[in-house]
Amino acid sequence: MAKPIRVVVTGAAGQIAYSLLYSIAKGDVFGKDQPIILVLLDIPPMLPVLDGVVMELQDCALPLLMEVIPTDKVEVGFKDIDAAILVGSMPRKEGMERKDLLKANVAIFKTQGAALDKFAKKTVKVVVVGNPANTNCLIASKSAPSIPKENFSCLTRLDHNRASSQVAMRCGVSADKVKNVIIWGNHSSTQYPDVHHAKVDVNGSEKAAYDAVKDEAWLRGDFISTVQLRGAAVIKARKLSSAMSAAKAICDHVRDIWFGTKEGEFISMGVYAAGNSYGIPEDLIYSFPIEIKNKTWKMVGGLPINDFSRAKMDATAAELVEERDTAMDFLSQ
Ligand SMILES: NC(=O)c1ccc[n+]([C@@H]2O[C@H](COP(=O)([O-])OP(=O)(O)OC[C@H]3O[C@@H](n4cnc5c(N)ncnc54)[C@H](O)[C@@H]3O)[C@@H](O)[C@H]2O)c1
Ligand SMILES: *[C@@H]1O[C@H](CO)[C@@H](O)[C@H](O)[C@H]1NC(C)=O
Ligand SMILES: *[C@@H]1O[C@H](CO)[C@@H](O)[C@H](O)[C@H]1NC(C)=O
Ligand SMILES: *[C@@H]1O[C@H](CO)[C@@H](O)[C@H](O)[C@H]1NC(C)=O
Ligand SMILES: *[C@@H]1O[C@H](CO)[C@@H](O)[C@H](O)[C@H]1NC(C)=O
Repeated sequence: MAKPIRVVVTGAAGQIAYSLLYSIAKGDVFGKDQPIILVLLDIPPMLPVLDGVVMELQDCALPLLMEVIPTDKVEVGFKDIDAAILVGSMPRKEGMERKDLLKANVAIFKTQGAALDKFAKKTVKVVVVGNPANTNCLIASKSAPSIPKENFSCLTRLDHNRASSQVAMRCGVSADKVKNVIIWGNHSSTQYPDVHHAKVDVNGSEKAAYDAVKDEAWLRGDFISTVQLRGAAVIKARKLSSAMSAAKAICDHVRDIWFGTKEGEFISMGVYAAGNSYGIPEDLIYSFPIEIKNKTWKMVGGLPINDFSRAKMDATAAELVEERDTAMDFLSQ
């Protein structure tokens, strides 16, 4: 049997983790032959809740789960870690200013980035989910200079999956028949879900999404706003944020990092923009079309961008630039 890998999930007492941990522990992400040591990190008041999560994981009687380690200490949480899934962050509280919220999150991701730098394996893959995910990811990466920037990514796969599913439902096909949608930019209502390069398999013949959907007004209107505002719609209906679908998207994201994307397909994830990437300002974590092979991602280059797309890609970039600049001020304080 393979040597166990160490995987940490932060925010492990929260609602996303409650859906996520089972999938990881039963082999959906790292493979059915890969034993796992699961490290659960949360804040001190949540330790009693973590004990309950540990008991339930034990009670699942999963063959791949070698050990479960609950902790509130980053030096324990990030020790020798192979994959870090950073779900926990400071939530917005009643009456809290956006700047104060950002400041609190910069503090969290600075600490966790520094701990990854000091304690984790240098080959660790870090995925940031806790919002504001793009900027938190940038701060964690900047706080972990000894780990390659390429090893940090943030989750926009939920948005990607939402976009694929909307197109699939519109065409009357299953979600797996839609590929190569793109989420550009921030994981927020300014994100740009783009189907100009997407393909739909309709009864065995592959069509461009625009030809399969045959409704340009919908694709440029309600489709985009539905995906952009889906998180808020779920909160309104459920009185809680997306957790099941977020956990599923995290599994898709990390599994693709581990095992690669399918030939001819790309997915969306927030990665470090190093300049010359579709005219997006450098030094941002921005969601792009990505292919992954051998645990290394590559941006899909050369896709033609029309004026409609350009404006939307730039608007979401502008939002991220502003947030980064404020966050960097907090980081240097
Ligand atoms: N990127 C995405 O697509 C996406 C999708 C859904 C949710 N989210 C975000 O994911 C985060 C978690 O969502 P949830 O529904 O599980 O929230 P939740 O409130 O149920 O759980 C969050 C957990 O994080 C913990 N936490 C807070 N600060 C921490 C720290 N410094 N270290 C470790 N743990 C800490 C909390 O104690 C809590 O247990 C939120 O920020 C949410 O906005 C992102
Ligand atoms: C970027 O997206 C995150 C996640 O939804 C959000 O919290 C943040 O406010 C957005 N940034 C800006 C500057 O609006
Ligand atoms: C796909 O095939 C089914 C069954 O043959 C048919 O009913 C359906 O109309 C076809 N769909 C399209 C979009 O061609
Ligand atoms: C895969 O990546 C590893 C480590 O980066 C490298 O040593 C190896 O040669 C790569 N394999 C292929 C097939 O590219
Ligand atoms: C992470 O860094 C290692 C080198 O430490 C590199 O081989 C690997 O390709 C990087 N992973 C990603 C996802 O880029």
